[in-house]
Order: sequence, then C-alpha cells, then structure tokens
Amino acid sequence: MTPQPSEEPFEEVFDTVLVVDFGAQYAQLIARRVREAHVYSEIVPHTITAAEIAERAPAGIILSGGPKSVHVEGAPSIDVGVYDLGIPVLGICYGAQLVARDLGGEVSRTDRGEYGRAELTRNGSGVLMSDTEPSQLTVWMSHFDTIMRAPDGFAVTGSTPATPAAVIEDPQRRIFGVQYHPEVVHSQHGQELLKRFLYDAAGCQPTWTMTSIIEHQVEAIRAQVGTERVICGLSGGVDSSVAAALVYKAIGPQLTCVYIDPGLMREGESEQVVDTFRRHQGIELIHVRAADRFFERLAGVLDPEEKRKAIGERYIREFEAAAGGLSDARFLVQGTLYPDVIESGTPDAAKIKSHHNVGGLPEDMQFELVEPLRALFKDEVRRVGEELGLPEDVVWRQPFPGPGLGVRIIGEVTPERADLLRKADAIVREEIKRADLERDVWQVFAVLLADVRSVGVMGDERTYGHPVVIRAVTSDDAMTADWARLPYELLETMSNRIINEVHGVNRVAYDITSKPPGTIEWE
Ligand code: XMP
Repeated sequence: MTPQPSEEPFEEVFDTVLVVDFGAQYAQLIARRVREAHVYSEIVPHTITAAEIAERAPAGIILSGGPKSVHVEGAPSIDVGVYDLGIPVLGICYGAQLVARDLGGEVSRTDRGEYGRAELTRNGSGVLMSDTEPSQLTVWMSHFDTIMRAPDGFAVTGSTPATPAAVIEDPQRRIFGVQYHPEVVHSQHGQELLKRFLYDAAGCQPTWTMTSIIEHQVEAIRAQVGTERVICGLSGGVDSSVAAALVYKAIGPQLTCVYIDPGLMREGESEQVVDTFRRHQGIELIHVRAADRFFERLAGVLDPEEKRKAIGERYIREFEAAAGGLSDARFLVQGTLYPDVIESGTPDAAKIKSHHNVGGLPEDMQFELVEPLRALFKDEVRRVGEELGLPEDVVWRQPFPGPGLGVRIIGEVTPERADLLRKADAIVREEIKRADLERDVWQVFAVLLADVRSVGVMGDERTYGHPVVIRAVTSDDAMTADWARLPYELLETMSNRIINEVHGVNRVAYDITSKPPGTIEWE
C-alpha cells in the first residue's frame, strides 16, 4: 500500500503516522483526520508485524476501530511487539480495547453496549485530556465491550457512566487509548485530541500541506519520467484533471493530453475541458471529436451493460488512434487515488454494474504509469487542484459516470435524444447552482425516458411527449444514497423550465428512491 512511484517515499519526507486497519470503516476516516492535522498518514493491515513497523519508523501508530468485541474468536489483533518499539501508540475504540487487553488491563463483556452520544467526564489531566479541555464533553460511542480497568502504569483521564476507563494514558511509554471516536464530528474536540496525540505525544510536525505535497510530487514526477514524453487521457473529471495539471507543472511541454469527446458529455463540458487545459493551462491537448462514431456504435443498443461495453470499447479505439500518433510516449498518467489503492487489495464487492473507467487502457498498450495522486484522498485532490489554479467547476465537479449521458437515456442513445437530455440536465444543474445547493448534493441530474410517452396538454394542444426524471441524491461515498429533499419551489422551477424550454418533454417526475434498493443512475 506504499504510494508509488516516488523516488523518495513520503515517510522519508513527512512525519508519518500508520493507521492500523482492523477491517471496519474507521481507518480511512482516521487517516483523513490525521492529514487534516497536516500529518501524513497511511493505512496498514493489522497483520503488519512489529519488525515491519520498526523498519518504516513512523512517528506514531494509531490502532483504529474495528469489529464488535476483542473476545470473539478470531477477532483481529496486533503483534504485541508494537508496544515495545518506543513509538507512540493511540488505540481508538476497538484499538483502545486491544491496548487495554494486551497490556494487562481488563476488558469486560457488558450486557449492553454503548452507542451514540455519551457524556464524558474529564477526571485528571494528561496528554490527551489536557487541562485546557472542559470537564464535560459530548462524545460519540460505538462499542459493546468496555475497558473496566486500565493496565498498570496508565492513568484514567476520562470516563462515561457506562465506561469507567474511557480515556487511558501512559505518558511514560507514550501509549494511549480512547474508547470513543474522536474522528467523528459528533465528538466534541475530537480533532483537538488527535492533534495532541500527533503533536504532543508523537512530536509530529504539521508539514503535510498542499504546497509541500505539490512540491514533493513535482520532484517525484520529474525523477520518474526524465525527458520522456507523457500522455494523459482527460475525462473532464476531477482526478484526471488534477493529475494532468500536476504533471504539467512538473514537466511542462513533455505532456500531451488526449480528450475524447463522445458526444455524451453534459452541456458546456467539452468546451470547458478544452478551454481549461489548452487555453488557460497552456497544455498541448488533442481534442478528438468522436460523437459520430460513438452514436454509430450505439445505434440499436438498448441493454445498459451493452451500452457500457460499447462506449468503453469505442473509447479504447479512439485512444489508441490518438496515442498512435505519439509513438515516442513512454508514460501514461492515471488519476488513481489512495482509496483505490487500499481497496484494490480486497476482493471486489458483488458486481452490480460494470464500472469501467473512461480512457480504460487497451491491454496491449505498453506504458509505464505515472500516478501522482496515488497517496491522496479525494478532498486532498480537490485542494491540490485549487492550489494549481484549476477552475472551481472542475475541482468541485460532481461524479459523472464514464459512459456519460449514455446511461441516462433509457432506450436507444441517439444524437437527438442526447441533445434533449443535455438541455433538461443543464436546467437542473443551473437551478441547483442558483439555489446554492450544488455542494449539498452528491449528484444531481436528469434522466430521459425516451422510450416512454405520456399525454399532456399545452395551450390548446394535446401533447404526446417524453418524461424527464430529476434525480438528486445525498451520499458520502456512492455506496449508499438517499434522495435529496429538494425544496418544492426549486422542483417546481425545474419542472416548469424543462417543460417550457425543452421541446419534446411534457412531464417531469422526481425520483424518491434511495440506494439501496435503487442505484444512483437509472441504468
Ligand atoms: P450506481 O448507479 O451504481 O452508481 O449507484 C454509483 C456511482 O458510480 C457512478 N457510475 C459509474 N461510473 N462508470 C463510471 O465510471 C459507470 O459505468 C458508472 N455507472 C455508475 C454513478 O454516477 C455514481 O456516482
């Protein structure tokens, strides 16, 4: 999981904290919070040995939350040698219970867990519970077992009614445990507690800043590619845009970008890509206008998976053709992010839709990859993009499926239908922007039910047109989603405008399906 490629690993440049993953969702959030405190963090599996940790010489170790109980057979644990390395350790939730159990304290099974809000009393002062903290804090709990007694040498500096030893500290050995979740926003002063561990216990310097990340990556890219030519496929999305801008900063005119316009982008997007990269950034950009060929390939294709396949294949052919003219290129930029790196280590979840990436590579193309975002979380990528001067619309762009509007047109995808949907979609996006709700929703778009017709009346005329569905969802990660409670007035404006302005549409519906059981896209 070490980010690559880089001449000099991050941990040699930045103080590094290893976040040990016990298989639940907590590790990523903790790692992100550590980085928000400007300390580089990396997630490692709990099977890592003390010797492996020692070799990497991190400034600190955080044992993250995990499954319900340390008492269950097969519950994950950590090589107890880590406590003797002299490296500061912070256990959080399950991690705190491991610390307590491994070092001779007592973790008992209780007859009921403690979930949700709890009132923490600070009893004493230590590194984590500094005396600058209030004596009462509201914190977020989610645990079944409870630390009843701290190991010898530990002071108890915080407790809740259900958890007598909610914060335990051994400042001598610099080992700490906190039963609640300081990484969640519902825990008051949670980030301050993490910072005290990072700065006061582990002595980390807050050097992980956007400027230093960019500087480091620029050096790494230069070292990797030397004077060779590099290609980058742009999709219009955040990741490939930021990756391209970063590589350009490093090697300038050695970079050539390829943007394939499939005719399935949203209104104004293709122009924006060309404008941003060619005109503003001054990057050499090959703009392939491929709409005709995509529509030709999509003629008569109705099945969603068939559409994805058809679009994916077409991209590859177009990319091959464009890259063929750059025969001296040895390197290809990819916008791989840290969560992709972590997740590719685990087996795929059940395949519900085949999510190919736009610009997915022909297998027989031989490129060495340049992945300058491989160590970054999405929020960091956005901040790097801002720092590099990319426009807000690009940096804050909502996720957009690789097959584009193709999977938002139910039935056959034709140029006329794509135009119709593009117009309706533009109205939806315009109105969301006007209402200043763009960042409150995960995705918002229009879907065209082009194979469905309904009867309506406009003026004195009977109409027989297509319905458009508005879809707006809130989500954190697209794995689950809820339909957004958009104000009625906003929906009304969208509906009126779509019917008045988009010829051929005479009905607008709002999708009130969550995920699961629905998916975010219609196909
Ligand atoms: P669903 O519809 O499965 O979508 O709830 C989850 C997220 O993935 C996006 N999506 C795709 N992205 N290629 C992509 O690159 C695809 O074929 C594809 N299908 C869905 C969707 O927009 C949402 O953010």
